[in-house]
Amino acid sequence: MESRAIPSGAVYAALLPFAADDVAQVKEDHHSRRWRACFVLMAASAVVALLVVASVFVGGRMATAGDANDEDGAGGFPWSNEMLQWQRAGYHFQPERNFMSDPNGPVYYRGYYHLFYQYNPKGVAWDDGMEWGHVVSRDLLHWRTLPLAMLPDHWYDIKGVLSGSITALSNGSLIMMYTGVTNATKMVEVQCLAVPADPNDPLLRDWTKHPANPVLSHPVGIKDMDFRDPTSAWFDESDATWRTLIGSKDDHQGSHAGIAFMFKTKNFLSFERVPGILHRVEGTGMWECIDFYPVGGGNNSSSEVLYVIKASMDDERHDYYSLGRYDAAANTWTPVDTELDLGIGLRYDWGKLYASTTFYDPANKRRIMLGYVGETDSARSDLAKGWASVQSIPRTVTLDEKTRTNLLLWPVEEVETLRSNATEISGITLDTSSVFHIPLRQSSQLDIEASFRLDASAVAAVNEAEVGYNCSSSGGAAARGALGPFGLLVHAAGDRRGEQTAIYFYVSRALDGGLRTSFCNDESRSSRARDVVTRVVGSTVPVLDGEALSMRVLVDHSIVQSFAMGGRSAVTSRVYPTEAIYTAAGVYLFNNATGAGVTAEKVVVHQMESSPNNEVILADDLAYTS
Ligand SMILES: *[C@@H]1O[C@H](CO)[C@@H](O)[C@H](O)[C@H]1NC(C)=O
Ligand SMILES: *[C@@H]1O[C@H](CO)[C@@H](O)[C@H](O)[C@H]1NC(C)=O
Ligand SMILES: *[C@@H]1O[C@H](CO)[C@@H](O)[C@H](O)[C@H]1NC(C)=O
Ligand SMILES: *[C@@H]1O[C@H](CO)[C@@H](O)[C@H](O)[C@H]1NC(C)=O
Ligand SMILES: *[C@@H]1O[C@H](CO)[C@@H](O)[C@H](O)[C@H]1NC(C)=O
Ligand SMILES: *[C@@H]1O[C@H](CO)[C@@H](O)[C@H](O)[C@H]1NC(C)=O
Ligand SMILES: *[C@@H]1O[C@H](CO)[C@@H](O)[C@H](O)[C@H]1NC(C)=O
Repeated sequence: MESRAIPSGAVYAALLPFAADDVAQVKEDHHSRRWRACFVLMAASAVVALLVVASVFVGGRMATAGDANDEDGAGGFPWSNEMLQWQRAGYHFQPERNFMSDPNGPVYYRGYYHLFYQYNPKGVAWDDGMEWGHVVSRDLLHWRTLPLAMLPDHWYDIKGVLSGSITALSNGSLIMMYTGVTNATKMVEVQCLAVPADPNDPLLRDWTKHPANPVLSHPVGIKDMDFRDPTSAWFDESDATWRTLIGSKDDHQGSHAGIAFMFKTKNFLSFERVPGILHRVEGTGMWECIDFYPVGGGNNSSSEVLYVIKASMDDERHDYYSLGRYDAAANTWTPVDTELDLGIGLRYDWGKLYASTTFYDPANKRRIMLGYVGETDSARSDLAKGWASVQSIPRTVTLDEKTRTNLLLWPVEEVETLRSNATEISGITLDTSSVFHIPLRQSSQLDIEASFRLDASAVAAVNEAEVGYNCSSSGGAAARGALGPFGLLVHAAGDRRGEQTAIYFYVSRALDGGLRTSFCNDESRSSRARDVVTRVVGSTVPVLDGEALSMRVLVDHSIVQSFAMGGRSAVTSRVYPTEAIYTAAGVYLFNNATGAGVTAEKVVVHQMESSPNNEVILADDLAYTS
């Protein structure tokens, strides 16, 4: 532990990447909804050991850092109520209090979007006996809280109503499938069925669990706690059955593969396993919250339909996806590019986002993704705040028809209804090593659109290849190269040496002479506090000939969601500034490249209104207020 201590002089320095990751891992395990559920005594004592090590480690780190603000001796920053209150989001959904995680069963029904979510009403961390919270919205932004929808009250789900989905049948009826954890001393994950108690209630307040529950148990050879999160079902015309996928893992004979089982059913009561497995990727571990859906196609034969398979990787807690071809008769899915197979290639988001799910919105003919964004501060801060986690802004999911190698994930257009008071600038040239302040009324709730172009002759003059640039390990916004970094600073204190969160592009010449573009969020200077995890996160992003480098950033207090190139890459950060809050923060453009000027072609900064929970947004909502 000694060797990992932070040097004392580095007041705003990034935590060492490996140290930060260790802390994150320990905390995520502690919060993990499945960790404690999954294993018996040995694993449980391992967690205890990890937590003991973690507290020793954090304590040691603080002592070595010698931070003058670190007065309380318990290893934490002295957060004030003012700072903690600032962290709540203004236009992202979060419950009033306590712990939330996975979005569950999103569905559009009789004029309302329904969002259910994993919820622990008794505390700010995951626990046994998770329930389903429930909110509804007309616009995916203003959410009305309804009574908890699903409680652990039967032997087959008494240890938790875990994640699941809703399927809309062609006649409009809804079927909910979810994972229950049983009462037995050896807990088992089983799949269960529930239906609306009153289909005429558009708010779907009451659900009836089916007397036949549980309706599906894990296949032979699979561990009891490795079988969860059924997808929405789809109808297969070939044999007139509904199909659903459930993720699992294969740990036999030294293997550690993620796998996906397909089942078919006519009535959601009796299920038959489709022989074989749909897909398997060695080394990726348990596949949680699997999802499967078609993209592309359009109405001409040159635009082939591709199938997205997505899984939340329990080992590393990121949401990966892959594009491929589905052969229903053979029950196989094959990636278009094996180097971008599931779990080793593309992610929905390169920052903090997990356990996502999608649903098809028949009202607006689009597919929408939701994922939850956990905390990266300490468990102690969560206790002080009284809440943990935020839902991401719902994003539309489409195939990028220009590249056909990636999806486009983009905030739903409803977000634009919250915009007001835009500040627009264009044609600003940023010399190397320069910063430009954008004057704003407030900078805690923003929707920023910005596009940049590097000076073409300067780019042409850079002919040395620079390989291996990596958001996570190349030094962030303070590590200068010929053609980057440049972009935006948000939550930035007036003094440029103060707190700031950078969202930037970094361009480099590849060995083949082409250009390679990375898009990153740099959290390393986002907070003076040391009891938060800060990293630099991001990835490379495709840029086609002639395209400007464009980004969109949704800033909402402690959540910052960035999108590059129309949604080819997305990066979500949680940041917890201590000074750059309320009116003390601002937004800047910056160029830290050494070899090229950058023109900010167009920058529009929209102030964003809040979307408070339980605000009545349409008069006819009143009709349903109970
Ligand atoms: C829709 O179809 C299902 C399955 O056939 C049936 O159980 C349900 O009653 C139907 N709902 C309506 C409203 O007809
Ligand atoms: C679990 O519930 C079943 C059904 O009620 C019951 O038969 C069984 O004894 C219970 N098991 C435990 C360990 O409580
Ligand atoms: C079919 O293609 C045409 C031309 O690209 C487009 O205008 C139309 O919206 C498409 N229709 C559907 C149903 O996708
Ligand atoms: C068909 O789709 C392809 C791929 O999206 C597109 O390039 C092409 O222009 C389309 N053709 C017609 C006739 O719409
Ligand atoms: C970037 O660095 C991180 C952390 O060191 C590593 O896990 C990741 O594989 C690297 N990515 C690439 C594309 O090299
Ligand atoms: C630009 O790089 C310098 C040198 O590393 C660093 O001090 C400065 O903070 C960087 N600027 C930004 C906006 O990150
Ligand atoms: C927009 O400007 C008006 C008038 O200056 C102000 O009252 C309002 O609060 C502003 N809205 C936001 C979101 O800042």
